[in-house]
Amino acid sequence: MDHLISPSILNADLGNLEKVVLMINNSQADWIHLDIMDGVFVPNISFGFPVIEYVKKISEKPLDVHLMIVDPDRYLSRFSDAGANILTVQYEACSHLHRTVTEIRNLGMRASVALNPHTPVSLLKNLLPYIDMVLIMTVNPGFGGQHFIEESYNKIEELRNMIEKGAYNVLIEVDGGVDTSNGAKLIKSGVNVLVAGNSIFGSADPTGAILKLKNLK
Ligand code: DX5
Ligand code: ZN
Repeated sequence: MDHLISPSILNADLGNLEKVVLMINNSQADWIHLDIMDGVFVPNISFGFPVIEYVKKISEKPLDVHLMIVDPDRYLSRFSDAGANILTVQYEACSHLHRTVTEIRNLGMRASVALNPHTPVSLLKNLLPYIDMVLIMTVNPGFGGQHFIEESYNKIEELRNMIEKGAYNVLIEVDGGVDTSNGAKLIKSGVNVLVAGNSIFGSADPTGAILKLKNLK
């Protein structure tokens, strides 16, 4: 399959949220990536349900919601009601991950698990039959605009091998420091979904930046 682009609006101009979402609607983006931070799991607080609900109202693209919160089980149905299509929980924030991803699927969303840079992909070996996507964090979560961690390529290749060996229907998404300098190598390593924040919204031409990422081979 062709790779997908999921722009992260974390560092976009949220004072003009409607404009941001309409730009994404009219671009080659496939999804829209929403980063939910609680100030506990990560040292930053972003936005919550009212923002997701508003984006849902005007977005023509599926909502790719990335939870960087402790104990996400408390809120799974609220994220479903708010309009999430793909829901990612952090491996490190869940003590009963199989239960969590099963509940996400039961609520009608696609279930995804994110791994922090220090968390090995081998820990997901027995979970791959139950999830739709793995999000490899390529920076430490919490902020946009950080530097891509090079060791991520090894994790991606290892995960790609695990998925192929088991013939699982699982996408690989990467998030953090993704731009046109590393995007092509990421796709070659087996990535299906590129999340990008700063390289899109820090550009003078966000629509063009999305197109460049989409056209990478
Ligand atoms: C980081 C977030 C990312 C972030 C990506 O914790 O999960 O989605 O917005 O931004 P860039 O592409 O600027 O690293
Ligand atoms: Zn994210």
